[in-house]
Amino acid sequence: MLLNAKGPGRGRTRIALITAALACGLMAPASALASEPSNYAALGGADGVAQIVSALLDRSTSDPQTRRTFAKINRPQLEKRLGQQICQLSGGGCVYEGESMLLSHGGMKITESEFYGMVEHLREVLDARSVPLATKNALLAQLAPMKRDIVGH
Ligand code: HEM
Repeated sequence: MLLNAKGPGRGRTRIALITAALACGLMAPASALASEPSNYAALGGADGVAQIVSALLDRSTSDPQTRRTFAKINRPQLEKRLGQQICQLSGGGCVYEGESMLLSHGGMKITESEFYGMVEHLREVLDARSVPLATKNALLAQLAPMKRDIVGH
């Protein structure tokens, strides 16, 4: 056995072991990603995102702090676009087909209070659905920089 290990087979064994170790090393990040649920899954996938958007708009269109600009919206269109956007941001593989944030909010003079009011609605909707903190924070962090294109134009 000892002789065999030191014999001609040893090189092949070592190469096989190194190859296996490399393969494991290379595959670890990919399998870790695959086994972790993406943020999209944590939001509940397509159904979850649709329900989140619907609840967000229910609140935003009825709350006196946020409802001002929603008087004449095309709600099905907004639900679709917002759903696409959240799906894309959370890794669901959608492609957002709507206008830029600057274009779609231009002319409405949206205030900071309206912006933070809507963010608060989203936070509450996500909490009500027990969306994990990491997913909630990831989404809110992605939306925060959009403020500069949404408020005050
Ligand atoms: C980060 C925060 C926000 C995001 C991600 C967002 C996202 C969007 C998206 C994707 C659209 C549709 C664009 C299109 O159809 O091409 C839209 C439109 C619109 N948003 Fe926002 N929005 C945000 C904040 C706000 C706030 C704070 C208000 C007002 C309080 C607001 C009011 C509207 C209105 C009135 C429309 C137009 C709907 C229509 O004309 O049918 N949004 N927004």
